[in-house]
Amino acid sequence: MMKGDTKRVYILGIESSCDETSAAVVVDGREVLSCVVASQDELHAKFKGVVPEIASRAHLEKINIIVGQALEQAKLSFDQIDAVAAVNTPGLVGSLLIGFTAGKTLAWALGKPLLAIHHVQAHAYGAVLGYPGDAFPAIAFLVSGGHTSLYICNNPLQMQSIGSTQDDAAGEAFDKVACILDLPFPGGPMIDKIAREGNPQAVRFPRTWLAKESLDFSFSGLKTAVLYHIRGTDLSRPDSSHLSAQEKSNIAASFQAAVVEVLVEKAIHACRQFEMKRLLVGGGVAANSYFRRQLSDRTQQEKIELILAKPKLCTDNAAMVAGLAYHKFQSRQFANLSENVISTT
Ligand code: KG4
Ligand code: ZN
Repeated sequence: MMKGDTKRVYILGIESSCDETSAAVVVDGREVLSCVVASQDELHAKFKGVVPEIASRAHLEKINIIVGQALEQAKLSFDQIDAVAAVNTPGLVGSLLIGFTAGKTLAWALGKPLLAIHHVQAHAYGAVLGYPGDAFPAIAFLVSGGHTSLYICNNPLQMQSIGSTQDDAAGEAFDKVACILDLPFPGGPMIDKIAREGNPQAVRFPRTWLAKESLDFSFSGLKTAVLYHIRGTDLSRPDSSHLSAQEKSNIAASFQAAVVEVLVEKAIHACRQFEMKRLLVGGGVAANSYFRRQLSDRTQQEKIELILAKPKLCTDNAAMVAGLAYHKFQSRQFANLSENVISTT
């Protein structure tokens, strides 16, 4: 690109790291032209969790259709795309392989650059999409099914970890508590829903702060406290069928209040500790309505600029992938076609 050239950069992004097949087109890392997400919730519901083989097969069946829809909705043809970006880590290996291979194939066939994207970095970037102002430097907070992590981000490609969970991720705790409450899969959104009818002060579940000043998290004790509360410390009750709908809502609201209090206060604490006045928040749990309200109130009190991903861009999607890829494109961090997926990092 020539100096002073104002050509816009169109990036096609692909995400398939777990159980959502998604493709999106984003311009200049900010403007989402299209974002198509095919959920596999129905396929995994009866197993109450994601079955890797089913996930990769469903990605394979959907990927071409979803990419086609993303281009159609963006009103673009393949030759108008400047680069192809796909997630190559972390995630389920079979799932990652489908999206990343599709990305590699498209990049090769179109003769366009390929960008390999880290799913976790992309989640943090999800908050920036559509945001009109400066977003960096910031503290980034990623709260998903696999991560509960705080980072210092001087720019979109540089994330330095300053705290993370020692055991379960917050989303995992939501999903496990939903399971204990015998709620349908996926659990997190169900807890959010029934908690709206419940009293968050009904049960005083423990808050785990760890050492003073610690920016790490732990949710396994809370999960066990909910289990004992419902089934008895001797686990003598076989399930949650003895509870009324109101009692379930109260437990969900009280559990949610315990998780959210720790999440919000640690995020505020990270901003204070590193004297940062800007907080980026993304990941599936950031879609939680109670978390969003509490975070918004507390950051306002603390005069911290909150950049919170839109609910649809909290859970897995390809817009965050195409958005982050713009910055890799600008700094020419292209991937080789021989690059492979890495299931865990
Ligand atoms: O970011 P994500 O789609 O995938 C990962 O990278 O993990 O996050 C999925 C997690 C699941 O644990 C899901 O239950 C949780 O986010 N989640 C929610 C809500 N929506 C999704 N948790 C609480 N409330 C929600 N509304
Ligand atoms: Zn994710």
